[in-house]
Amino acid sequence: MPITTCVFDAYGTLFDVAAAARTAASEPGRDDLAKCWQKLANDWRLKQLQYTWLRAVADAHGDFWDVTQDGLDWAMENNGLNDAELRERLLQLYWELQAYPEVPDMLGALKSAGLSTAILSNGSPAMLDGAVQSAGVGEFLDDVLSVESVGIFKPHKSVYDLVGKRFDCANDEVLFVSSNGWDAAASAGYGFQTVWVNRAGEPMDRLPWKPTNVLKDLTTIPELAAKL
Ligand code: LAC
Repeated sequence: MPITTCVFDAYGTLFDVAAAARTAASEPGRDDLAKCWQKLANDWRLKQLQYTWLRAVADAHGDFWDVTQDGLDWAMENNGLNDAELRERLLQLYWELQAYPEVPDMLGALKSAGLSTAILSNGSPAMLDGAVQSAGVGEFLDDVLSVESVGIFKPHKSVYDLVGKRFDCANDEVLFVSSNGWDAAASAGYGFQTVWVNRAGEPMDRLPWKPTNVLKDLTTIPELAAKL
């Protein structure tokens, strides 16, 4: 089936999550962070995601903003950073993330081609609204779908169900795009056509499913969507 609907993961896919630690590290007086910002960003992301999976299997759902703060607290402690002002600054920067540079043109091309576009994210509606506003991409999106409406995190099937319910489309008309290998793989298992955006050249996750396409960044998504 031709693609009618292009759906994006948010954090790490459209929005550059490492930018929070990178930007804070470049600010005056942040020598301790400057030494470890990449490890902090990595620890933060990994713990945030682990907590979503653990909460999903333990039936202990919580708001992604709380999970994001829990991940940051673990990561700061693991990197020897005990600084309440820095914690607040990192959270503020996470709320106001920028999109990767190719995102506005890529989304604009999808809209010009007549496709429906959306975000499907673990993020709470308020967080997603903050990021969409600060990145200035709201005009290119038909909807922003949050797991909060089903109360469980990805990759639970009920999250992917939100797309067909909203756009009244078959699964194989959907191109789902994620920088998370596990998200791109699980959504392929669900029945979407998928792209894993593998900016860092990471190994493929060993899961029962595989993403149907792998790209280095988002630039060629419109061409791919047109030819599938
Ligand atoms: C999201 C996370 C998983 O936006 O990146 O859903």
